[in-house]
Amino acid sequence: MNHRFRIAIDGPAGAGKSTVARRLAQRLGFLYIDTGAMYRALTLKALEVGARWDDPEALAQLARESRIELVPAPETSRGIRVFLDGREVTEAVRAPEVGRHVSKLAAVPQVREVMVEQQRALAAQGGVVMDGRDVGSVILPDAELKIFLTATPEERARRRWLELQAQGYAVTWDEVVRDVTERDRLDATRTTAPLRKMPDAIEVETTGRDVETVVEEILRLARGGGRHALPDAQTPGEASPLGFLPGGPDRR
Ligand code: DC
Repeated sequence: MNHRFRIAIDGPAGAGKSTVARRLAQRLGFLYIDTGAMYRALTLKALEVGARWDDPEALAQLARESRIELVPAPETSRGIRVFLDGREVTEAVRAPEVGRHVSKLAAVPQVREVMVEQQRALAAQGGVVMDGRDVGSVILPDAELKIFLTATPEERARRRWLELQAQGYAVTWDEVVRDVTERDRLDATRTTAPLRKMPDAIEVETTGRDVETVVEEILRLARGGGRHALPDAQTPGEASPLGFLPGGPDRR
């Protein structure tokens, strides 16, 4: 596998993307880029300055004039530190309040344009593991390996709940389920760059599996050459929407 290899990891909230991507990057000596943290940082700023959520141009302007930096920090639990206009916001971007508003901002095409440009620049050198919702579809459509991580809705809500509890936020289980479901719905149904499993992405289930097992599976795929080593069962088909929209899990 060459050092310019790019691994795209997409999937819904709580599928384990950041944990897996971070560990994978560590194992490969690659740069880990958390694109969700960028949308979160901008959402934090929009909340702080009282931006108008119904004004796409104003939000895009906010994106253009903000400096969002991701600094590798392998020694920390998230693997990166997030800075907004020079101020560290690593913890602040995880607040439930940010989580509740981020999908609104991420649905604005003009904002995504600014973000995607920055994200492509970050990945330009290769040797990256990038996680998000549109990495394989928009940011790096020619990534050498595309992974679509999934987990059951219950497992994803459980992970988010544990994460918020660990950070000391007093949220109820019902609130977390509601927030995760609503965010998934918005992310998967928006017009611009909705969350989708791309035909050439390999779906990897994380429910009930430990991080190392999942990481080993992806490493095997990467060492096999990525897209050129797709097993028969994963031959490209139609892009399919997610299976956790209202109406219950759609097991394809
Ligand atoms: O991965 P996360 O939960 O930190 O992402 C926060 C939000 O940002 C999520 O609701 C969807 C959005 N997002 C996006 O639209 N595109 C990305 N590449 C990454 C995240």
